[in-house]
Order: sequence, then structure tokens, then C-alpha cells
Amino acid sequence: MTAVGTQDDISSNVRVKELVESIEELKKEMRAIILAHYYTVPEVQDVADIVGDSLALARAAESTDADVIVFAGVYFMGETASILNPDKLVLMPDDHAGCPLADSCPVEEFRKFKARHPGAEVISYINSTAEIKAESDIICTSSNAERIVRQIPEDKEIIFGPDRNLGGYVMRKLSREMILWQGYCYVHDAFSWDVIKETVDAHPGAELIAHPECREDLLRHADFVGSTSGLLNYAEKSSGNTFIVATEPGILYEMQKRSPGKTFIPAPKNASQPWSTCTQMKQNTLEKLHECMVKRAPRIVVEESLRRAALKPILRMLEMS
Ligand code: 13P
Ligand code: SF4
Repeated sequence: MTAVGTQDDISSNVRVKELVESIEELKKEMRAIILAHYYTVPEVQDVADIVGDSLALARAAESTDADVIVFAGVYFMGETASILNPDKLVLMPDDHAGCPLADSCPVEEFRKFKARHPGAEVISYINSTAEIKAESDIICTSSNAERIVRQIPEDKEIIFGPDRNLGGYVMRKLSREMILWQGYCYVHDAFSWDVIKETVDAHPGAELIAHPECREDLLRHADFVGSTSGLLNYAEKSSGNTFIVATEPGILYEMQKRSPGKTFIPAPKNASQPWSTCTQMKQNTLEKLHECMVKRAPRIVVEESLRRAALKPILRMLEMS
């Protein structure tokens, strides 16, 4: 017997189909490219031209010849695209979709922090505001942080911000001290080994894979640590069949698509901190994506002197990685 959806399911499928068709038409009319992060909802990933991690999306924004960039991600991502493309129209489905990690590093405080370590090289994670980028020497992402820190002479002090977990991970990998800003991502910092251990014990043979924004206690037990693209590639190439995935669960959509025969188990969250999804990423709905293209707003614009100052360390990152 064929399964029959409810009237609500049918109406919602029709609505999705209409929105997708209209978005495809708008894309052609506007000469637009849609970039989306792996943490966005599946229907947004499906309509995007490129789905990627922060580095891949920044590279795509740098090299595109489209007239319009529609960025389904969090604010710093759209802002970075705009910094790289002052002459293009950069749109976001929701310009209130901020990254709390980026917002946890106010520029005045960061300047004072820097002033306590004169002469230090300042490396900032791309999950930071344009103001913090403008205060930095080099930007990095989770996929190139190690490579970038490796290129800094051994006798040079390094300030790393705003994510203390990624900074700590790089320090341990390279056996190198860095001065860390104490920011963290509420999604990744909520995972703890004590909770995840039960899942690992219940699935003998499963591999634990984790994003470097997770805490040290978890990363020490992980079979593989990597950026969202790194995790996807690892799961695809590994001979393993079952993976416990410690990152935002939006990534499971692409993981399952790339490796349909494998099993992916989202790592459980810490019961006292009931967040494992990035609510900001989920603000990018298909409706808002469509609406921003129709209205050509909200537009992401960065004031020119700030843009130029923030551009320098981003270009340095792109050269060094
Ligand atoms: P990636 O660059 O690994 O995709 O990470 C972005 C991010 O915001 C992780 O929380
Ligand atoms: Fe920011 Fe964390 Fe969301 Fe990534 S998952 S965008 S770091 S809040």
C-alpha cells in the first residue's frame, strides 16, 4: 500500500516546491550564487550552489563571478563575503543570525587584551566580528588553524581568539604555547566526555569524530578531530561503518547523503546544558531565503575603512592556506 501524507504534509511539500522553483528563477535573473553552511536546514542546503565549511565558503565568496551572493549562514560569514566583495550585493536570509562565539569578544576588551602582550602575532578565528578581524594579523578557520600557526616563527608570541577550545587543540597538537581569549561556542562546549562515553560504550567499533570547538576532555578521546569538511571527508573515506558525531547535527544530512550505507549517531548533549543545535544557523529558513532575494534585503555592508582593515588578515589567511 502506498503511504499517503496528511493534508498538511501535502500543502507543505507544494509550498517547498514553489519556493524552490521561484528561488531557482530568481537566481538566474539576479545572477546570484547561494552559499550555505552544513549546519543550515536540509531544504536550504538542497537549494544552495555551494555547501561548505567556513574556509570553502570564504574561498567561494572570493572567487565567484556572480553579481549577488546570498549567504545562508551566520552573520560573520555574510560579513566576510561582503569584506571580500565590496562591489557585490551580499544578502542574508536573516541578518539577526549572529554567532554567539563571535559576539563574545568585544573589541574594546580585545584591544586591552592585546595591549598586555605587545609584539604578539594576533591570530583570530574566522568566527569573529569585522572589528576583531581588523585588530588581527591573520584569520584562520578550523580547517587551517594548525597550518597557519605552524608558519609563525617559534620565538614569536601568539594571541589566539576568540575560541579557547580550538586554540587549546592547536596548542596541544603543535606543543606550542599561545595566549588564549576565553571564548567558546555554546553548541560545542556543551558536549562532555562523561555523557558521550555511555554512547561510545554502547556502540563498540563506532568511531568518535569531533569538531575542534569541543572541549579538551572530549577531543582527547576522539578518533578524529576536524572542521565540518574534515569530518565529512573522514567519515566518507574511513573503512568504519558507525560514527558518533560531536558537532552541530545539521552536518548529518550531508554525511548521510555522501555515505548512505553508514550509520551516524549524533553525540548526546550534556543534560544540564540543553543545546546541541545552533539556533542561529536554523534561522535561515527557505521562506526567508526566498524573501531576501525578492526584497534584495537584508544587505550586508561593512563600512569602508573597517572593511579594508579586516580584509588584510583574511587575505593573509587565504595566501597561507
Ligand atoms: P567549520 O569551518 O568547521 O565549518 O566551522 C564553522 C562553525 O561555526 C563551527 O561551529
Ligand atoms: Fe557560532 Fe557555534 Fe553556531 Fe558555529 S555552531 S555558528 S560557532 S554558535
